[in-house]
Amino acid sequence: MIFMQNETVDLRDEQIRTLSLPRRRYGVLASLLFVTMDLFYGRKRTFSKFKVLEVIARVPYQAWEHVAYIAMTHTYAAPNFARRIFEFIKESRSQQDNEQWHLLILEELTQRKGIKENFLLYRIIPQFIAFFYYHVSWLLYVIKPSHSYRLNADFEDHAEHEYMEFARENPQFDTEPFVSEFKADYGNYDNLSDLFRRIGLDERIHKEESLARIEAARFGLK
Ligand SMILES: [Fe+2]
Ligand SMILES: [Fe+2]
Repeated sequence: MIFMQNETVDLRDEQIRTLSLPRRRYGVLASLLFVTMDLFYGRKRTFSKFKVLEVIARVPYQAWEHVAYIAMTHTYAAPNFARRIFEFIKESRSQQDNEQWHLLILEELTQRKGIKENFLLYRIIPQFIAFFYYHVSWLLYVIKPSHSYRLNADFEDHAEHEYMEFARENPQFDTEPFVSEFKADYGNYDNLSDLFRRIGLDERIHKEESLARIEAARFGLK
């Protein structure tokens, strides 16, 4: 089931649902990425570590958009086919935008809380990881799109569980109001617990969209 941002959703129920389900069985590339992140940033869930996750989260969508634009260049003589590709581009862009709000809100939170970050670890290295991940996503997509969707589904599943766990292990977030410049863009939530549950739910939606694409590719629809 896919929820839109403006629908009324019981976020606590969604959190319980995520936490009651096992994680996906992650592939080699996704596991390698998670181990690398744990090595650089530790296993503990922190605002800063989630920011790194969000810098990386956007890039598969950018890679797919890039490949899709190349495909449009080769297919615009067949407008109906090109239109389908363009619909795909729009969907990728909206997921990318959603990840962008996550990143901006997390950055706002770390600044508000006065969290100090090492420049190399939190500004430079994430860009290198994202650069590498972009090319892996791009290459997998060119070889076989469902390989790239599967990697993204693993990534999003991990993000979904991490955010829901983060809300669970920080009960003090229940009484910490969500104060943000981005409420009009992203949504208004009473407290940080609900904010992180909502972000976790977004990640689940991203995962489900990638899984739906794998199914569609299997039947030759995309
Ligand atoms: Fe995200
Ligand atoms: Fe996501």
